[in-house]
Amino acid sequence: MKAKGTILTGHRTTGPRHLGHLVGTLQTWVRLQDEYRCFFLLADLHTLTTDYAHPETVRANAIDVAIDWLAAGIDPQRSTLMLQSALPQHAELALLLSMLTSVARLERVPTYKEQVQQLNLQPSLGLLTYPVLQAADILLYKADTVPVGGDQLPHLELTREIARRFNQLYGELFHEPQALLSATPRLPGTDNRTMHSSYGNAIYLRDTPEETRRKVMEMYTDPTRIHPTDPGHVEGNPVFDYMDVFNPDRGEVEDLKARYRLGKVGDVAVKQRLSEVLNAYLAPLRQRRTELAAHPQEIVALLMSGTDKARPIAQQTLEDVMEKMGLNLGRQFAASVLGQSPYPISGPFC
Ligand code: TRP
Repeated sequence: MKAKGTILTGHRTTGPRHLGHLVGTLQTWVRLQDEYRCFFLLADLHTLTTDYAHPETVRANAIDVAIDWLAAGIDPQRSTLMLQSALPQHAELALLLSMLTSVARLERVPTYKEQVQQLNLQPSLGLLTYPVLQAADILLYKADTVPVGGDQLPHLELTREIARRFNQLYGELFHEPQALLSATPRLPGTDNRTMHSSYGNAIYLRDTPEETRRKVMEMYTDPTRIHPTDPGHVEGNPVFDYMDVFNPDRGEVEDLKARYRLGKVGDVAVKQRLSEVLNAYLAPLRQRRTELAAHPQEIVALLMSGTDKARPIAQQTLEDVMEKMGLNLGRQFAASVLGQSPYPISGPFC
C-alpha cells in the first residue's frame, strides 16, 4: 500500500505539453506514483475560464494533454486519471464552497490580479472563482498533498482556509492539504522568458526532431557575445540551462561550459550538440507518444474508466458536505438518483 498519503494535482487542458511541463511537473508526478495514491485531473473546466470562446479545440486539447501525460510515464494502472467536466461533483462542491468565500478574498488572489491586468475585458465570475473550483478538486478526494508550481501556492492557501472554515462551521470533514513544491528550477523558454504556449517559445513533447533542432538553433544565448571567440556567459544562458537538465554526460557539460567561458567553442556548435542531446533524451517518450496518438479511442476509454473510478469518491464527499450543510433532503435525492451512495435511503420519501 502507498503509505504516504493521497495526491491530487492536475493541469488546465490548454493544449500539447511542452518541456517546461515535463521538467517542472510531469517527471515529479511520475516519481510520486510509487509513494502516493494519485489522482491526476484534466481540468477542462478551468481551461474555460480563459478559453471559453473556442469550443472546437476543447476536446482535442484534453486528449492531447492526456496523451502527453501517459507518454511521460503517468501510469493508469497505478494512478487515477480523470476528466473534470465529466464529474459534476466538482462544480457542485465549488458552488457550495463559494458560500464560504468572500469576493474580496478572491479579488486579492495574485493569479487573478495578474490575469485581470493581462485581459482586455471584464473578468468573468468564472475566472474570479477559479481557485474555489480548484479547492473543490482537491477536497473532493480528501487529498493531503498537492504537487504544484510556486504560482499555485495562493490557491493552496485558499483551499486550506476553506477547509478550515468548513470544519469550524460544520464539524471535521477535510484535511488541510499541503503543497509539494517542485525542486527543479523552472526551465526557461527558448527566448529565456518563462516557457509558455502563448509566447511562441516552447518546445513541445510532440515536436519532431527537426522542429526541435530548428527551435534550439534559434535559441537565445549570451547577448554580450558577438564573435565565437569572445568569452561567453554560461549563467542565465538557456542553452546551458537545457544542457544541465538534458545531458546526462556531466563531464561533457562541464567541458563545454569551460570552453564557452574561454571563447573556445561557438554558439552554433553548442546548440548543435544540444539539439542532439535533447532529441536523444526525448526519443523514447516520443515513440510512446506516437503509439498512443494512433489510438485516440483507447485514450478516451482509459479516461472514462479513471473518471468512473473517481466518481463514487467524489460523490461520497459531496453527499457528506450536503448533509453537513443542512441539505439532507437534496443529499437523499442525489444518493437515490445515482444509486451509488453507501448511505441507506430512508425517511418519508422512500
Ligand atoms: N490551477 C492549476 C494550474 O494552472 C491546475 C489545477 C486545476 C490544479 N485544479 C487543480 C492543480 C487541483 C492542483 C490541484 O496549473
